[in-house]
Amino acid sequence: MKLVLIGYMGSGKSLLGKHLSQVLDIPFQDLDTYIETSEKSSISQLFETKGEIYFRKREAILLQKILSENSNLILATGGGTPCYGSVMKDLLGSNNVLTIYLKCSVDTLTERLWKEKESRPLISHIKSKEVLNDFIRKHLFERSYYYNQANITVACDGLSEKEIVEK
Ligand code: S3P
Repeated sequence: MKLVLIGYMGSGKSLLGKHLSQVLDIPFQDLDTYIETSEKSSISQLFETKGEIYFRKREAILLQKILSENSNLILATGGGTPCYGSVMKDLLGSNNVLTIYLKCSVDTLTERLWKEKESRPLISHIKSKEVLNDFIRKHLFERSYYYNQANITVACDGLSEKEIVEK
């Protein structure tokens, strides 16, 4: 079984994926880390030197590569992974793939991302928490069309890491 965690930046895909991997004893991989290793570049550098369109193409190709190379896997995707091209449709049509949306509110995401925005090229330029909150509200609304197609949705607000993994 391949469990693919999707959700907005800061929703805890990597953290919860690692935890779930220990509980279920299924190997964990992080798509962003895989891209960084494969491209020999950080995500921020990749956006800066090659641009977002290049990143999205590599992201979709490397996602398929990881899925085809592993039969048992917990995969943390990037926040935008399922929202471009036919990625979400392909995930939903793949054998043995279960997509799990880690759903968090705009305010929860704003609190987390305000402290962690520097490594994220889409929001690193934002200078105030109010602007970040506004950006996330609009962006999450657009992306929810894709996230809401997941096989399973876990509402994460107010829950501890342990409670989310149990869910
Ligand atoms: C992105 C999210 C990031 C990373 C890149 C783009 C996005 O991953 O893939 O900066 O489009 O939401 P995280 O969701 O792990 O921050």
